[in-house]
Order: sequence, then C-alpha cells, then structure tokens
Amino acid sequence: MSAKLKDILGPVLPGEELEQLVASYDVVGDIAIIIIPDELSHRQGLIGEALLANNNKLRVVAKRVGNYNGEFRTIVLEVIAGERRKETLVTEFGVRLQLNVETTYFSVRSGTERKRIASLVLPRESVLVMFSGVGPYPLIIAKHSNAKKVVGIEKNPLAHEYALKNLQLNRKINNVRFLLGDAGRLTTLLAERFERIVMPLPTMADTFLPVSLEMLGPKGGYIHYYEMAKTGSFAGAVSKIKKACEDANRKLLSSAITRCGHCGPKTYRICVDALVSEKIK
Ligand SMILES: C[S@@+](CC[C@H](N)C(=O)[O-])C[C@H]1O[C@@H](n2cnc3c(N)ncnc32)[C@H](O)[C@@H]1O
Repeated sequence: MSAKLKDILGPVLPGEELEQLVASYDVVGDIAIIIIPDELSHRQGLIGEALLANNNKLRVVAKRVGNYNGEFRTIVLEVIAGERRKETLVTEFGVRLQLNVETTYFSVRSGTERKRIASLVLPRESVLVMFSGVGPYPLIIAKHSNAKKVVGIEKNPLAHEYALKNLQLNRKINNVRFLLGDAGRLTTLLAERFERIVMPLPTMADTFLPVSLEMLGPKGGYIHYYEMAKTGSFAGAVSKIKKACEDANRKLLSSAITRCGHCGPKTYRICVDALVSEKIK
C-alpha cells in the first residue's frame, strides 16, 4: 500500500481492513481509480469520501469491477464517491487528452514511455501508431519531435472519437491524422509507408508483426514492439521479431529492450526498439 493511501485511510479503517487494501490507485485527470476487495465493499463509500477529502484535485472516485479485457482493453468501473461521471481531462507533457475512463483504454502509467518514444523520432520522419486509442502516442510524438507526419489507427469507435476531439484540443499540432479501422487491414487502407511504427498492444502485438513489416518503408526503419514478458524471457520478444523479419524478407539489424511497466509478479511491459532492414530481394 502506498504510504499516502495508508495515511489517508488510517484514521478511517480498522487495522485488519487497512491491511486488505490494494497497494495503490491511479489518478486519471480528476478521477481516482481504485481496487476495492470484495471484503471491503461495505466500506467503499467511506474510502471514496476519504480520498476526495484528502485530494482537492479529485472530483470522482471509481472502483474497478473486473479487469481490462476484450479487444478494446476496457474495464467496467463503478463510481463510489463524488460526481457521477467517467469522463475527464488529462494533461500529459503539455498535451491535453479528453477521455472516458470506462469506454476507452488509457494508462497514465505509460506517459514516460510515450515521451521516450517521441525522443527517438528523427526530424522529418513519418510515424505510424497502430492501436492509437484516444491519441496519446501520436499527439505526444507530434508535440515533442520534428516528425513530418504521424498517423494513428484505432478500432474502438469511442476511442477514435476522442482522438479526433483531442486533435482539436491541441490546436498547434497539425501533422497528425487519425483513422478508424482495424490495424490488421492497414495494407488495404493506406498506400503510404512509414519510417517508424509503434505497436502499443502488449497482449497480442505479435499477431500484427506481418502487417507492421508491410507498412514499414522499403528502406527499413524502426518498430517499437510491446509485449508483457516474465523476467528471464524478454529475449522471446526479440526472437518473434527476428522470425517475422525473415518471413517478410527483411533482417533485424539491432534491438534494445526497455522495461516500461510492471504488470504482475515478475511480469513487465517491455518495449523492443527494433531496427529493421530494407526488403531483401
Ligand atoms: C493497450 S491499448 C493502447 C491505447 C493507446 N495507444 C494508449 O497508449 O493509451 C490498445 C488499443 O488498441 C485498440 N485495438 C485493439 N485491436 C485493434 C485493431 N485490430 N486495430 C486497431 N486498434 C485496435 C484497442 O481498442 C485499444 O484502444
């Protein structure tokens, strides 16, 4: 449990109940998202009100009902205190993002990783973000690099709607385009090719490697490939990319692994920055 949560709830809950609380909670804009174990559900109103009373930036406290799942990686949430809404506004490295925390996927914990990717983008590069959600990667890349253009594709229509709104919210950004569609069909949707491709779908990015390698320009470039991997098996992700490159008549020239999130016991969200060759005839 984070010291802060313990401090906040210490005066409110008996010791044994305090121990049952889950370690931390996320804050997305002005919404706190918390896990409340079933044994504590009779205390949820009290917990929610205590959080609101201790953080004057919070307006809503919602509890997770289940886990992130389905194709759109969304999660059911129940508001337990504050205003009855699930929409909020987040500012990430100077980019404004409006979103609904229940109907769209957005992780505040990936902000630093998005900024890291933006810092790798070279001047005048064309960048494709598969699985762009409400638009954080494309907008952060556009704001913090000198990319020529950034294209995002997203299948969840509600997330795509927010991405379009977010483009309007960030008026100075004028080199981003959002498409609604299935990234698996990109070769039929877009004739253009890209010098850098970001693949933030850690649950099943491997199945999209063939299309990603088709969307990479003929001269090659970078693929940022995300996966959930256990300590000691990070190299498995690199092997998948190597094999996909061979199948696509390309070579994996180099790879670097970054650990960019913790998602379970000894399990991490990793990103492989893969430099891929031109097509070999
Ligand atoms: C892990 S989320 C990442 C969202 C966003 N990039 C971010 O960092 O907040 C993955 C996203 O991929 C979308 N998605 C899943 N399958 C897809 C597909 N076949 N084509 C396009 N988007 C897809 C989901 O709806 C979800 O928004």
